[in-house]
Amino acid sequence: ERTLSIIKPDAVKSGYVKSINSMIKNSGLKIIKKKNLTLTKEQAAQFYSIHSDKPFFNELCIFMTSGPIIVQILEGENAVDLYRKIMGATNPSDAEENTIRKEFATSIQENAVHGSDSKENAIKEINFFFKE
Ligand code: CMP
Repeated sequence: ERTLSIIKPDAVKSGYVKSINSMIKNSGLKIIKKKNLTLTKEQAAQFYSIHSDKPFFNELCIFMTSGPIIVQILEGENAVDLYRKIMGATNPSDAEENTIRKEFATSIQENAVHGSDSKENAIKEINFFFKE
């Protein structure tokens, strides 16, 4: 099974990429593809279009385009759920100990990482970044 991971601008700026990827590898997930890029406003709005009616949508797009991100495909048994487990809750104040967001996120918006929330969305999100 595969899932899409994004290391967001806050975590890249703070130099947490290596530590986050160590946590990913320690969980048993393999990083099989990686891209370093900066999203355009259009790409951010398209990627997060499911949230376009939310009050935080505009700010989210501004944040996600504020600097480079690392986009990765993770592979392993139960990858979607396993990655969501090691990321921790969206809001870092609700995240359990030893999760990526507990360790590295600063707010509900600047929450260090993104992970696909279902197998169907994992396929869509992987195709969004890795069409080839
Ligand atoms: P992510 O898992 O990438 O999915 C949607 C993102 O929107 C989420 O992580 C946060 O970065 C952001 N987000 C979710 N809820 C809120 C909120 N209440 N306020 C601000 N940003 C949010």
